[in-house]
Amino acid sequence: MFFPEYRARRLRRNDNIRRMVRETHLRVDDLIYPMFSAFGTGIKKEIPSMPGIYQQSIEHIVAEAKEVYELGIPAVILFGIPEIKDALGQDAYSETGIIQETIRAIKKEVPKLTVITDVCMCEYTDHGHCGVIKDGDVDNDETLQLLAAEALSHARAGADIIAPSDMMDGRVAAIREILDANGFEQIPIMSYAVKYASAYYGPFRDAADSTPQFGDRRSYQMDPANRREAIREAALDVQECADFLMVKPALAYLDILRDIKDRFDLPLVAYNVSGEYSMIKAAAANGWVDNDRIVMETLIGMKRAGADIIITYHAKEAARLLLGR
Ligand code: PBG
Ligand code: ZN
Repeated sequence: MFFPEYRARRLRRNDNIRRMVRETHLRVDDLIYPMFSAFGTGIKKEIPSMPGIYQQSIEHIVAEAKEVYELGIPAVILFGIPEIKDALGQDAYSETGIIQETIRAIKKEVPKLTVITDVCMCEYTDHGHCGVIKDGDVDNDETLQLLAAEALSHARAGADIIAPSDMMDGRVAAIREILDANGFEQIPIMSYAVKYASAYYGPFRDAADSTPQFGDRRSYQMDPANRREAIREAALDVQECADFLMVKPALAYLDILRDIKDRFDLPLVAYNVSGEYSMIKAAAANGWVDNDRIVMETLIGMKRAGADIIITYHAKEAARLLLGR
């Protein structure tokens, strides 16, 4: 009878040993919590496909921001649901737009919470695309002007980090230039560098009311089949002086996270998107999976793949699990 000399199970025998040899860690510091700020007052509307996540007016956003801060989560990322949408998405870069007001309100009440803002046009345009439409498609270079104006207005309102998600060519450079020209050279850009055209964004588009009214986003977001293209996208954003790189979605793209991690030395963000959240919540609600264990396993998988930071709707529950609260 053969007995193995090396027994891998020796390092799995009890919790102390398992803790000592653990290779990857998830920390509260790694989490960013997304929030949907809606125009109006007294609004707190749960998104049906995203249990626990709400469209809420500013006073409720501020209350939840406090809760997030008290859990030790370092940052939130904000999405806006404006009063009025139009062809040029004017609320996006208005000084009194929904996000600008939300930033000021959070900064007043929870000044030490880091506020990241999503910079894109799709939440503000009546057609739901991420930029200006010309000849039936999004016009890249005209959209850059609006994105730059949006980023600047966020910085003026007090945003700490700017996160462009539109996928226009040259947006990081355009935003860097306008921020620097206006004295915001210390505001980092967290670029959605590698963003795929994904069905996993479905629940988000209900939440942000940003489904394109015609066509789809495949002329600007990436083809899910492409791996080398992710390297090119990330390289461009590094050249344009992005401070963080992001891969989005996360779960079906863990190989891409690893590729980017191995090739670039910027902090790497994974966006654990809405559809990934909804799938877990739906399965857990049916009793088909154990919510807490599957949440932690999913997040540690993203870290193991190379993420330094994770934007996740699970941030609050994950923080509670990590802190034993
Ligand atoms: C805006 C934006 C989207 C998401 C983040 N920023 C939607 C999209 O591109 O359609 C998706 C986030 C999620 O699904 O959780 N461009
Ligand atoms: Zn968009």
